[in-house]
Amino acid sequence: MQRGSTDNSYIVKGADKTALLDLPDKSFASVFAGAIDCGAVDYIVLGHLSPKRVDALATVLDARPADAPAVEVWCSNPAAQGLRARLRTIKTGEELPLGGARRLKFTTAPTPRWPDTVATFDPQSGILFTSKLFSAHVATKTTGADEDATDVGLGFDEFGGDWRYFFDCMLAPMARPAARALTTLAPYPAKMSAIAPLHGPVVRSARNELVREYREWVAAQVKSADDFSVAVIYASAYGNTSAMAQAIARGITKAGVAVEMLNCELSTNEEIEALIKKTDGFCIGAPTLGGHMPTPVSNALGVIVKESTREFPAGVFGSFGWSGEAVDLMEARLKDGGFDFAFSPIRCKFKPTQETLQICEESGTDLAQSVKKIRRKKQSDKTKQVSAGSSFGQSDTAAAVGRIVGSLCAVTAKKDDAQSAMLASWVSQASFNPPALTVAVAKERAVESFLLKGSNFNLNVLQAGNEKDTMKALLKPFQPGENRFGDMEVEISERNGCAIVTEALSYLECEVTERMECGDHWVVLATVREGKLLKEEGLTAIHHRKTGTSY
Ligand SMILES: Cc1cc2nc3c(=O)[nH]c(=O)nc-3n(C[C@H](O)[C@H](O)[C@H](O)COP(=O)(O)O)c2cc1C
Repeated sequence: MQRGSTDNSYIVKGADKTALLDLPDKSFASVFAGAIDCGAVDYIVLGHLSPKRVDALATVLDARPADAPAVEVWCSNPAAQGLRARLRTIKTGEELPLGGARRLKFTTAPTPRWPDTVATFDPQSGILFTSKLFSAHVATKTTGADEDATDVGLGFDEFGGDWRYFFDCMLAPMARPAARALTTLAPYPAKMSAIAPLHGPVVRSARNELVREYREWVAAQVKSADDFSVAVIYASAYGNTSAMAQAIARGITKAGVAVEMLNCELSTNEEIEALIKKTDGFCIGAPTLGGHMPTPVSNALGVIVKESTREFPAGVFGSFGWSGEAVDLMEARLKDGGFDFAFSPIRCKFKPTQETLQICEESGTDLAQSVKKIRRKKQSDKTKQVSAGSSFGQSDTAAAVGRIVGSLCAVTAKKDDAQSAMLASWVSQASFNPPALTVAVAKERAVESFLLKGSNFNLNVLQAGNEKDTMKALLKPFQPGENRFGDMEVEISERNGCAIVTEALSYLECEVTERMECGDHWVVLATVREGKLLKEEGLTAIHHRKTGTSY
């Protein structure tokens, strides 16, 4: 969350009644309850309810005067089960009259990660409250002006990357259910004046563009699921293994392979069997509870060992507190069953740190690449046809593109406690004022998720004749999470915390201002904040190529 985030709640007032839509995380519960008139609320509508929000519900209820009438809580059936209280459960098509002409209309839009999602439409204002859908983790300004928390005047240019990143991390791994959720909301966009999500800006000016883009993102994911897909099967009691699963899923999708996520506590053996038969690889995650993996994971493993072909790769992961048997047990069972692993087992003590999440993401990418390799081999064994890529490789066009040269550079970046780096030659200055440059980063590159809008990185420009060691160090294959710098001599910048390659000719401290999706790469536009020449003499290392089909 480079750009912060917001937890959004909304108050909708009718002629007679007032509804409070959604509640913030428990850390904001008392500030929130103090900031609103809790006694004036007649209904609380929960579009999403995680355990962290239950505290806010209790705080709001406690803050109501003793003589205030009982508030009615409206939420989906899964949320009601989570609360274990007498509640009014919402069905699609139901309406809540607030007096006068004002009525709220509800649509349930469940996805595996958020089975309790309810979207609420207010026909009077034209606002569609969408819970997690169309959210972004970005903190909007709070000067108190009405338009502060919206995208007005900024729109897609400012928040497009944040909406896309939220989608990639949270919804891409469940593209089919996300597509179904979008279909259930299909009647609304034509009548809508704004989208009010659970996180990030209220979307007014970019609402149509965002809906259009969402449809395209979902369609692209569903299509890639038809080519290759990987199952991420997990259970998680407190969210730690689930956070690992999410990071692995992100690593898989960024390598162009679709993910089918399945929480095995909520699934039947038949669903697990169907999933494992249609996917091209899998990984399975579990916490250690009482020295074991939870029973649903053990059942899922039984189905996998019985039904899955051994030619596809596997992976195991899980969070633990002290002994951590679950990961070893899962690994042993799959090994005994004859499976090969695409990545080393990932074990994490309690909540995963940024470094662990990075290991998960990179392991997901490794799994995806291994799936693609196996599928490609199978296809070429079958057809022995020349692929489109290699015919481009032999073409004049490829040779012509290959005449474009770039400066050899080391991109170094940092995200919380994790560091990363890559060798780059698709680099170019992009503006005099402000000084800016672009770097093209392959979508599956580990450092890609360090280069989101607002992130810092260093571009270390290598010196001709002195570039070999840095190239060698950065081009060797890395294990997920392995120190990218190896034997390279680096110092850490006091200003942005990113590495400076001391052998470089110069380095530039940059901040990402834009990202543009270009086929299999992201073109990252960055403003140069500071730069330093490390050597007075010497020329820049240039990368000459024979063809435009490789770096
Ligand atoms: C009832 C209970 C039993 C646990 N038993 C173990 C155990 O035997 N060994 C261990 O390493 N951790 C144990 N833990 C710690 C959990 O594995 C740890 O909290 C983990 O982060 C939970 O992952 P999750 O959030 O994915 O459920 C236990 C936790 C609870 C609440």
